[in-house]
Order: sequence, then structure tokens, then C-alpha cells
Amino acid sequence: MQDKITLITGATSGIGFQTALTLAKMGAQVIVTGRSKPNAEEAVAKIKNVSGNARVDFLLADLTKQAEIRTLVESFRQKYPRLDVLINNAGLVEPERRLTEDGIEAIFSVNTVAPFLLTHLLMDSLKASVSPRVITVTGGNVVPINLDNLQGEKSFLSLNTYSHAKTCMMALMYEFSLREKGVAINVCFPGGASTNMTASIKPEMAPTILKLIWPIFKWITRPDNGKSAAKAARSSIYLAASPEVAGVTSAYYDTNSKLTAWPPAVLDTTTRENLWEIVSRLSGIKQNNALA
Ligand SMILES: NC(=O)c1ccc[n+]([C@@H]2O[C@H](COP(=O)([O-])OP(=O)(O)OC[C@H]3O[C@@H](n4cnc5c(N)ncnc54)[C@H](OP(=O)(O)O)[C@@H]3O)[C@@H](O)[C@H]2O)c1
Repeated sequence: MQDKITLITGATSGIGFQTALTLAKMGAQVIVTGRSKPNAEEAVAKIKNVSGNARVDFLLADLTKQAEIRTLVESFRQKYPRLDVLINNAGLVEPERRLTEDGIEAIFSVNTVAPFLLTHLLMDSLKASVSPRVITVTGGNVVPINLDNLQGEKSFLSLNTYSHAKTCMMALMYEFSLREKGVAINVCFPGGASTNMTASIKPEMAPTILKLIWPIFKWITRPDNGKSAAKAARSSIYLAASPEVAGVTSAYYDTNSKLTAWPPAVLDTTTRENLWEIVSRLSGIKQNNALA
């Protein structure tokens, strides 16, 4: 990975941090993104210190704010000649339905719209790489896509809305991979890990099935000093760095970096195309992929 430029969203903590750390240890140039300057500075200092790699930096953007995503991309373009690996890792769960300053429900905004917009905006930088790779991190629960409830307008329950947003993201990345043949675009599931996100989940945010096994969930995600997050980072790292997957695109990998069939929820072409239209509009991306 010595000559590779990599950008990892949400790398200030959890799985993204462990992904960034490992790629830095492998010698890659690593750009961490976060929404808090102190957190990003702390993450970069730790990664440099532990990896011994000085080529680690950060760019800031709150991914609920499309203006900040666009500014981040402008800063990236000014500083770096190309992008070899983009890892859309950042994810969000929140207890209550909230609209962002762009008027988009926050969970849908971070888990679906942000990776779609960021990948679009970075496409020229990716195409400047000889072997560009985009990896997007999904959740464990895949659900049918309901185009009438994308933003929890009709029904909202934090973890259900999160699973739905992640499924929509999977459908969009699959569609992206069919439209952009020169860029390897894949999705991976990290597996469960003890992170800030899992610590923030309360029973009232969860569907009945998770409430029923609440003590088991809490035990699985008990604090472990980043051990499970490091394990959960493996599939992102594999897709970012392994020569085995050079040129592989349109694929979905599980927590053990094993190629897995796309779930039926993302296979309906009409649903994917309608979703693409809606998210293109919400993110200000025109149909011809030009910037709005
Ligand atoms: N942990 C699990 O069991 C699990 C299971 C399946 C999938 N995942 C997925 O794995 C990925 C990493 O999650 P994690 O568990 O490692 O959680 P985490 O430690 O909470 O990390 C989430 C990262 O996303 C960033 N983020 C959240 N909202 C953001 C926003 N509005 N703007 C910019 N950055 C934002 C966070 O930044 P701040 O530091 O600023 O909050 C943090 O760096 C997510 O996509 C998640 O959905 C996790």
C-alpha cells in the first residue's frame, strides 16, 4: 500500500479508526475524516504514533451537511493528485427523527446520501488512480426497500430506519458499480463490534427482536479496548488492500471477507433506478453525474 492514497470517513473512532490504523501500518497515505477537529487531531496523532507512518492527515466534514461534504472534496482535490481507495465507513444512529440543515432525515443523510454524494464528487480523483477502489460499510440487517418511507416519514424507529438506510446504500452502491465500470465499487459488512455507536443504542431505539436478546447484545458489544473493532475492520482492509480482489467490483463481502450473494432487497432494477433518481435529487447530483 506504499504508494496508495486512501480516504476513510468516520475514522476518528471505532471500526474506521482501526481501518485507518492498519492501512497506515501497511504504508498507505491515510486521510481520516471526522466532524470534530479535536477528535480528528487525536486520531491522527495516535495513528502516526502507533504506525510510525507520518503520512496521515485529516479533513473535516459533518456528513449531515452537504456543503461541508463539497468543501471537503475541494480541499482533497487541492491537496492530493488522485484517490486510490475511498472507504465510506461513517455511520449514524440517533434515537429521534431529526431533519438536517439540508432538510433530510439524519440517519438517511449519513448512511445513504453522504456516501452517494461523496463517491460522486470524488469520482474524478478516483479515476486518476490506476486501480481505484470504493468500499462502503453496511449494517447487519437487510430489509425490503420502501421508497415511500426513505426518511422515516411514515414510520420511524431508530434501528429500523438505520437498517433501511444501509439497505438503500447497498442498492445505490450496487447500481453505482454497474454504471461506473472503471472503478471497483464494493460493499462489506463488518460484523458486530463494541464502538461508540453500539454503546449509544438504547432499548427504545431497537425492534422487539433485539429487545428480547438485549443482555446478549450488550454482552457482545461490551467495551473491549478496540479489539472487536479491529476485527470488524478486516473486511474493509481486505477490499482496500488485497491483491486478491484487484479489479473485483459489484460485490458484497461479509465480516469474514467472504464473497456473499447480494440480498434480494437490492436486486430489483426498478427500485434501484427510482432510488437513484430520488437520492440524485436530494444530493444535488444531476442525472449526467455532473455537479449541480
Ligand atoms: N459497531 C457495529 O457493531 C457495527 C455493525 C454493523 C455495521 N457497523 C457500521 O460500521 C461503521 C463504523 O461504525 P462504528 O461502529 O465504528 O461506530 P463509531 O465508532 O461510532 O464510528 C462512527 C464514525 O462515524 C462518524 N460520524 C457519525 N456521524 C457523522 C457525521 N454526521 N459526520 C461525520 N462523521 C460522522 C463518527 O464521528 P464522531 O467521532 O464525530 O462521532 C465516527 O468516526 C458504520 O457505518 C456502522 O454503521 C457497525
